[in-house]
This record gives sequence, C-alpha cells and structure tokens, in this order.
Amino acid sequence: MKVGEFIEDSKEYKEEAEKILIQLLGISRGDLFLRRMENIPEEIIERAENALHRAKEGEPLQYIFEQVEFYGRSFFVGEGVLIPRPETELLVESVLKLARDKAQILDLCTGSGIIGLTLKAERDNLAICMADISDSALLCAKRNMDNLKLDVNIIKSDLFDKIEGKYNIIVSNPPYIKKSVISKLDRRVRDYEPTIALDGGEDGLYFYRKIIEEGKNFLEDDGIIAFEIGYDQGQDVLDIGRSKGFKGELLKDYSNNDRIVLLRRINVT
Ligand SMILES: C[S@@+](CC[C@H](N)C(=O)[O-])C[C@H]1O[C@@H](n2cnc3c(N)ncnc32)[C@H](O)[C@@H]1O
Repeated sequence: MKVGEFIEDSKEYKEEAEKILIQLLGISRGDLFLRRMENIPEEIIERAENALHRAKEGEPLQYIFEQVEFYGRSFFVGEGVLIPRPETELLVESVLKLARDKAQILDLCTGSGIIGLTLKAERDNLAICMADISDSALLCAKRNMDNLKLDVNIIKSDLFDKIEGKYNIIVSNPPYIKKSVISKLDRRVRDYEPTIALDGGEDGLYFYRKIIEEGKNFLEDDGIIAFEIGYDQGQDVLDIGRSKGFKGELLKDYSNNDRIVLLRRINVT
C-alpha cells in the first residue's frame, strides 16, 4: 500500500493517518508529502493499521505511541497519566523567568513530570521536588527523569501531606475541570484521560483553594505560587489568592485566554 492511499482511505481520520505515518516512518510532514507515491514497508503497514483502528475508537495518539513532545523534548506518557498540553509550556516559561539561581521549586500535581523535569533540564542549578498522589503518574515521572538523565526528588503525596521544607516557588497545573463538565468533555479526554487528573471539584477551584491555603506554610517569605488555570478561572483564583494576602498577576496564552496566575506572598494570613 502506498503512503497516499493509506491517508486517503482513512477518510475523516486523515490527520490521524498522517501523524501515524510520520511517527512510524520517522519522517517529517514535508517528507510525508513528497513520499505519497512510495510503498509503505510491509512491517509498518500492520502497525499503522492497528494504530489507526485505535485512533478511530477515540484513543489519543499520544497514548498509542506512549510519547509526547513538550518544550522541545520527548516524554513518555502512559495510561493513567494526563497528556501534557502545549499551553503548559507557558507556565514553565513563566517560572524560568522568575526562578533565581539555586531556587527550590516544588512541582505539585506533577503527572508525567513535564513541568519539574523541563525546569531542571533548562536550568541545572534549580533544586526540584515533584509530587503526585497517583502511582501511575509517579512511575511515569520517574521513567521520564531516567530517560532525560536528570536528578530531581519525586515524592508520593496527597497535596502537601508528605512535603517538607520551604520553597521559593510552588508551581502547579492541578486538576481544574468542574465535576459536572467532565461527562461532557470530548470522548478522547473523557474516556481515556484519568478523572483524577481532571476533576477540580464542584466549582473546579478545589485544588487552587487548598494549594493557596496550605502552600503558605511551605513558601519562603518572598515565595511565589505559579498556577496554570482554566480560561475562565483567572479572576476566581486571583480573588482566592488576594483573600489570603497574596499579590496576584494574570497572564494570557497565545490564544489570548487567561492561562497563568502568579501569586506573590506579601502579607500572608
Ligand atoms: C492536570 S494534571 C497535571 C499533570 C502535569 N503537571 C501536566 O501539567 O501535564 C493533575 C495531576 O494532579 C494529580 N493529583 C490529583 N489529586 C492530587 C492530590 N490530592 N495530590 C497530589 N496530586 C494530585 C493527578 O494525579 C494528576 O497527575
């Protein structure tokens, strides 16, 4: 079967078919176009068909190939772990701008570890601790740490339960979807991504409240909390922060949606 035939035959799944061939043939999108008339090697056809079948069922390609690109690096991502989103790169960028040399940074709700590990990969002198409650997430984060040959501390903890010491920055992309909205999400998210990584409680703000309230005990005097937020949660998270004596700042993503909240400790109650 030719490259072009595989893509055309997949009809409304052409985009998935292209990505599958790019991945399995190890080529760029440009090369895919140039090679449309070439035969797909025998040993690849079955794998490509299998992947396309799974994609048609709704399984995200990142789970099929157990791989995701984030901040220019390749990360392992497996069942039970949230697929990292490109918007989260902005959170990493914000923290890189704020972090002093040798800063102590806690990545809470670390999932696959992309935030903490990218910070460490970009700035070796940062001291990174990453925590999550989920065993699947912790195994995934450890595998990514080993793959990238980085040295960070990984802890199993229900939020701050097992956390010790003080940090200059607490960074978190916590679960932030309203409970009632989860069943209405796209099936690729709803049926495949772990609910524990999505469910932010009745109003979606449960984790922000907890992290702001408890985080003050784990922050240095001039410490900062850096959150990723849902597009409509900016004002609420700023208000929670301000009510606890933090000064807040809201940053937008490339689609002009509110995406990051930075809270600086000033007069924490
Ligand atoms: C939205 S995901 C973010 C994962 C990763 N930081 C990212 O940006 O791709 C939220 C993570 O919070 C974790 N989590 C949920 N409840 C938690 C809790 N009580 N304590 C610690 N982590 C928790 C989930 O296991 C999940 O890995």
